Amino acid sequence: MLSGLTDLSRYFRFQTAIGTPPRPALLLRMLCPTGTAFVATRDQTIVGHAMWAWAPGESTAELAAVIAEDDQRRGLGIRMLSIAAADAIAAGATHFLFVVSAANERTLRMIRRRWPTATVERDGALLTFTAPARLPEERLHVVSPRGATRSSAVARVP
Ligand SMILES: CC(C)(COP(=O)(O)OP(=O)(O)OC[C@H]1O[C@@H](n2cnc3c(N)ncnc32)[C@H](O)[C@@H]1OP(=O)(O)O)[C@@H](O)C(=O)NCCC(=O)NCCS
Repeated sequence: MLSGLTDLSRYFRFQTAIGTPPRPALLLRMLCPTGTAFVATRDQTIVGHAMWAWAPGESTAELAAVIAEDDQRRGLGIRMLSIAAADAIAAGATHFLFVVSAANERTLRMIRRRWPTATVERDGALLTFTAPARLPEERLHVVSPRGATRSSAVARVP
């Protein structure tokens, strides 16, 4: 899935060159983070990935997602972020952290709408959002991650 992304999507997710195929160390961090990773699959092909990982700060979970190019803008990204957010809260997170390129308008809009009280700091080309840990409205439509094994597929795309 990562190799099929446009350069822009890869940059927006990783803010650095990840190699083609991506470096094994990167894949390991995506599949075995200090928090939990989730993948969405269709016909045994991964079409989405979301994760949270412990970050510096009081009970702070960093959230991130990436969706396969053809599956973007269909609601899967926010659905997967909702799953990761719920899991992070269940693990004790009280704050969420998002590190986003200042040019990533879709993600900026997504965060500002769902976490309107988030505070933001600029660090060069990156914006760092910190928000109280709460679930976006879409949680109502999300299957509970409870019982899912770590790094397992929890979202199946019809
Ligand atoms: C950012 C990303 C994860 C969002 O996932 P996505 O599945 O494309 O986004 P979603 O469909 O869930 O929703 C994003 C927006 O599109 C809208 N949308 C959803 N379905 C839509 C449709 N059929 N037509 C038009 N817009 C739609 C949503 O309403 C949402 O807008 P809003 O925040 O204003 O409500 C994805 O675009 C991606 O992988 N981008 C590259 C990597 C990246 O930027 N990662 C984020 C770094 S943390």
